[in-house]
Amino acid sequence: MLFKKKDKQQNISQQKLPNHIAFIMDGNGRWAKKRGLPRSAGHSEGGKALLKVLNKCNELHIKAVTVYAFSTENWKRPKDEVEFLMSLPSKYINTYLPKIKESNIIMKFIGNLDELSDILKADINKSIEETKNNTGLIFTVAINYGSQDEMLYAIKKVSKDVLEKKVLIDDINKEYFESKLMTHGMPNIDLLIRTSGEIRISNFLLWQIAYSELYFTDQYWPDFDEVELYKALSEYQRRNRRFGGVEEV
Ligand code: FPP
Repeated sequence: MLFKKKDKQQNISQQKLPNHIAFIMDGNGRWAKKRGLPRSAGHSEGGKALLKVLNKCNELHIKAVTVYAFSTENWKRPKDEVEFLMSLPSKYINTYLPKIKESNIIMKFIGNLDELSDILKADINKSIEETKNNTGLIFTVAINYGSQDEMLYAIKKVSKDVLEKKVLIDDINKEYFESKLMTHGMPNIDLLIRTSGEIRISNFLLWQIAYSELYFTDQYWPDFDEVELYKALSEYQRRNRRFGGVEEV
């Protein structure tokens, strides 16, 4: 894929694009409130925004996109909102799976999926199965996901390997630990974008963002479009990533 004329006008260099972008899609509720709509309308609109952003990322040949759809802490919300949020992934899959398939996107999920409803689990498996032979962007949805939970889960897996003598304590290194995380095999996250003006990480991919560039925008997620994506990419390309080293001359 080559850049379209419009992309060039946005001053984005094809060479310096992030491989993997993570999104904290925040502000759906406030977007709806501002319009006198129920919060659920904000989440539905957020779903539409996500599809557009996903397609743009795929078009730009970004390798992976990971989104935070439901955190381990979101269970604290009112029951009807939890139910609505939990119904969204199935609606999303049933509405957009044909388009996602056609766009060569691979779907994956992270989080404690065992606790989800049987219907949702079946839809998740369907979307994984139907897109597994695709070769384009890897789209990962975090549902019932919390980074601290993920790390505890990984530590338990490592401990089990130690007890079963599959690994020596001295041989446990970064790569070994990462192989136990839910994101194993995915490219490093280069850029984390959070919308809605909140400047925090909220228990999302804490290990994986060690050297990611962080980008915060005041836009509410349903308003995050192609133009906003370009702003973030252009800012990313201006950053000087040193990974703890010094700038190359
Ligand atoms: C945060 O906004 C958003 C969420 C908790 C849900 C995000 C879900 C989507 C965008 C739907 C589509 C995603 C998939 C893949 C099913 P908020 O409710 O915290 O907003 P607020 O801070 O303004 O209240």
